[in-house]
Amino acid sequence: MVDSSDIETAAIAPMTPGDIESFHRALDVVARERKYLSFLEAPPLDQVRSFAMDRIGRGDPGFVAVVRGEVVGWCDISRHDRLIHAHRGSLGMGIVPPYRGRGLGLRLINATLAQARRAGFVRIELSVHSDNARAISLYDKVGFVREGVQSDAVHIDGEYRDTIMMAIVERENAAR
Ligand SMILES: CC(C)(COP(=O)(O)OP(=O)(O)OC[C@H]1O[C@@H](n2cnc3c(N)ncnc32)[C@H](O)[C@@H]1OP(=O)(O)O)[C@@H](O)C(=O)NCCC(=O)NCCS
Repeated sequence: MVDSSDIETAAIAPMTPGDIESFHRALDVVARERKYLSFLEAPPLDQVRSFAMDRIGRGDPGFVAVVRGEVVGWCDISRHDRLIHAHRGSLGMGIVPPYRGRGLGLRLINATLAQARRAGFVRIELSVHSDNARAISLYDKVGFVREGVQSDAVHIDGEYRDTIMMAIVERENAAR
């Protein structure tokens, strides 16, 4: 049972190495819903740890929502590694089911985007399944624009779905 005070007191904080195991559990819960992410289960903990440590080491933006010591949501932006794409980052996020629809996603994405702006990212991009109305509404609200649709881009449990490509371009950072 989620108490509304849990939502109000949820801490939004940069992801640290100590959050990784709990983050892995949250990622696995959302992936196993088979609806929203590009995984159907979390990759093995060692792989997630090495990916997260690389991101933390590079200073890429990444925040977690923590309730009573447990990660209940995350939002991160991973910088692209090729030199000509290093101004770009890809955003991913998720919240475990009982904590959705109560404003935590907005708090997480705002913290992560603010950090990305400070870090000089010029382009932040994402792809979202076209039937994920809540995520699309959140992305619209914080300024993402639709750049295109990839038809039948996802195949889950025998059904094909489109994905929508969205991005924010930070013109001020581009002028630097
Ligand atoms: C998408 C997700 C991160 C959004 O976080 P959230 O905490 O649930 O969202 P919020 O409560 O901050 O609501 C954000 C906005 O979504 C919209 N929204 C909320 N519930 C909605 C619903 N059931 N249907 C459509 N839009 C909805 C509202 O516009 C809301 O803003 P408002 O209530 O302030 O007007 C979260 O629901 C989630 O983890 N979903 C499953 C995983 C996922 O989709 N990850 C993203 C993959 S691209």
